[in-house]
Amino acid sequence: TMQTHTTISSYRAWRTSLPPSTTSVGVIPTMGALHAGHISLVRHAALENTHVVVTIFLNPAQFSPTEDLAAYPKTLPADLAKLQALNDSLPSDAKGRVSAVFAPTVGEMYPLGIPLNRSEQVGTFVEVVPLSAKLEGGTRPHFFRGVATVCTKLFNITAPDRVYFGQKDIQQTVILRRLLADLCYNVELRVVPTEREADGLAMSSRNVFLEGRRRDVAIVLYKALKAAEGVYLSGEGKASEMLKVAREVVERGKVESGGMVELDYVSLNEGGLLEEVEVVERGKGVILSAAMWVNPTKEGEGRVRLIDNLILD
Ligand code: PAJ
Repeated sequence: TMQTHTTISSYRAWRTSLPPSTTSVGVIPTMGALHAGHISLVRHAALENTHVVVTIFLNPAQFSPTEDLAAYPKTLPADLAKLQALNDSLPSDAKGRVSAVFAPTVGEMYPLGIPLNRSEQVGTFVEVVPLSAKLEGGTRPHFFRGVATVCTKLFNITAPDRVYFGQKDIQQTVILRRLLADLCYNVELRVVPTEREADGLAMSSRNVFLEGRRRDVAIVLYKALKAAEGVYLSGEGKASEMLKVAREVVERGKVESGGMVELDYVSLNEGGLLEEVEVVERGKGVILSAAMWVNPTKEGEGRVRLIDNLILD
């Protein structure tokens, strides 16, 4: 049966009780509010490991003071029920492999406070340069330091053989792959494809902030990426042509919705250093990624930032 650990010592007591020679542990870090995208990661892990651990920790270090930490959905009982339901629905040889949930408190993870590199604070943080400043890092300069720091801590606590991350947050996967290599972790990183709603909207815990018209206009982001991909598939190689079409789709969405959407960025970049490419070559796995605001002029919860990406191969 699935155990929930809220302290590092309790988790470690369980983890060290597993027989090393016959055990492989797959870990899925999450911030909770689990949806089908998270469950897909857990399912992938259950098919490849004897034990699967899901971490649920709403990490304050990756939110800036103006972001939606307080409003972020918290649904722990429902999260546990979804994991239990997945456990029961796995193929017979994998049933019950979702063995543990690690759901610590903020105090357990940051007993001395959160190191944000503010001058008055003391402590250790992890930053993967220059990747953390690109794309998402342009709008969210604090973000990847918080992600890299908490993931380092979670990796050191959970002691995984494999970790699972979603393509939805592709820059996160690029940065954490780099982190694992640079810090000599003996851990394999797996990237799982993006789960989408029927109309193509990428699933996200933040989609609960989209309702009514906001939900209707949110699909503009995916449409823009698909339109740019269409240009690529038609044989065009110039990045500028693809980006132009993506921008046009968002601009049209903006006009038609009376200003309900605003593009943050759209980019074609390579998956190593995330450098912009001018020509998209076949088979290079070039990343087409974008971010868009819904209700751009509103404050707080009224304003929702969406990201999505496609890999052009
Ligand atoms: P969170 O947003 O909860 O996402 C947890 C994992 O689920 C991430 O790897 C994310 O890419 C993946 N995921 C989210 N939506 C998905 C979708 N529609 N399809 C497939 N996978 C999806 O990402 C974080 O949490 C945090 O930054 C974290 C890594 C836990 C560090 O705090």
